[in-house]
Amino acid sequence: MVGSAIRDRFPVFRDKVYVNSCSQGALSDAVRAAYEEYLDGWDANGAEWEHWVERSEAARTAFAALLGAAPDDVAIQTSVSASVSALVSAIPFRGERNRIVISENEFPTIGQIAHAQELRGAEVVHVEPHPEAYEAAIDERTALVASTFVSFRTGAVHDVEAICALARGHGALMLVDGYQGIGALPLDAPLAGDVVVGGTVKYLLASAGLAFMAFRPGLVEELLPVQTGWFADENVFDMQIERYRPHRSARRFDAGTPPVPNIYAGVAGVGLIAEAGVPQIRAHVAGLVERLVAGLDELGAKVAAPPHGPLVCVRSTDAPALVDAVAKDDVVASERDSNLRVSLHIYNTEADVDGVLASLARNRALLA
Ligand SMILES: Cc1ncc(COP(=O)(O)O)c(C=O)c1O
Repeated sequence: MVGSAIRDRFPVFRDKVYVNSCSQGALSDAVRAAYEEYLDGWDANGAEWEHWVERSEAARTAFAALLGAAPDDVAIQTSVSASVSALVSAIPFRGERNRIVISENEFPTIGQIAHAQELRGAEVVHVEPHPEAYEAAIDERTALVASTFVSFRTGAVHDVEAICALARGHGALMLVDGYQGIGALPLDAPLAGDVVVGGTVKYLLASAGLAFMAFRPGLVEELLPVQTGWFADENVFDMQIERYRPHRSARRFDAGTPPVPNIYAGVAGVGLIAEAGVPQIRAHVAGLVERLVAGLDELGAKVAAPPHGPLVCVRSTDAPALVDAVAKDDVVASERDSNLRVSLHIYNTEADVDGVLASLARNRALLA
């Protein structure tokens, strides 16, 4: 179910034209109920330790199904930042192979973590966000290549499979930050990257504090993260303090106590996406984006990148003022750089698109 068939489950639409899933997905009845289930269990039974571990495994299985990965190749994390920091902690950046290649479209956390590795001997190379630029920069000195799936700045969808093939061709690891697309666009994780990361705040319709890493089959045994914790142990119930004994699966990237409330919410959010089906969501969103782009053309508005995904970035002379102006018409959007960000998802309808366009028509003076 998509569009008007599911919209009633998201109370924000009673009053708002919510087109801000690129910042946070809308809250559903299912996610609210999941939080209540967590609190009810706490009230009724105190620490539900075994149940927590079971919920954590349910999240792993749900992420795996979404990404076309095996559950044993998926690690449970609290943020993309924690995931990427754990990943780079397993890469030596010594000797000849010490380069990290990143694009100008990466989220700040990717650039900042990459540059932090300079303290460990890494060299960071910035490239334009297209495969030809990656191709020119990737060589035998490259340890890690990072590409976002969908740019948070422009909405551009990166050809991550092509970039991944370049990385693999030179023996480098490919990291895909899938946060801005996963849930709205299909992504076959093993094809797209060696490590695909993302989280539940946006198109997976849940809360902050839950993220995932999906590893290419066979890769995880080669990686020894030194950013670690007791949930990464071969057997968390052993409570041993004698040695570093990483789990044989991607659980070696799990670290501390799992983010239990966020896992309840995350399983519910991913469940809504799985029930609707990502290909169906993609088709629904593509129809809405087409309508939006046609309307923007009529208004003479410019978009920052060809809109192939859920995020359409509209050029503005004063993007913060435009966010405030459309808010007066109950349109909830956001801005980055000089763009108004309009992101469309499972619950949006043609009426939402028309509402955005009507508001932009009233605020034409703020369009670039
Ligand atoms: C592309 C992208 N990566 C990462 C993040 C967030 O990373 P973290 O989970 O570390 O806060 C965001 C969200 O704000 C994002 O848009």
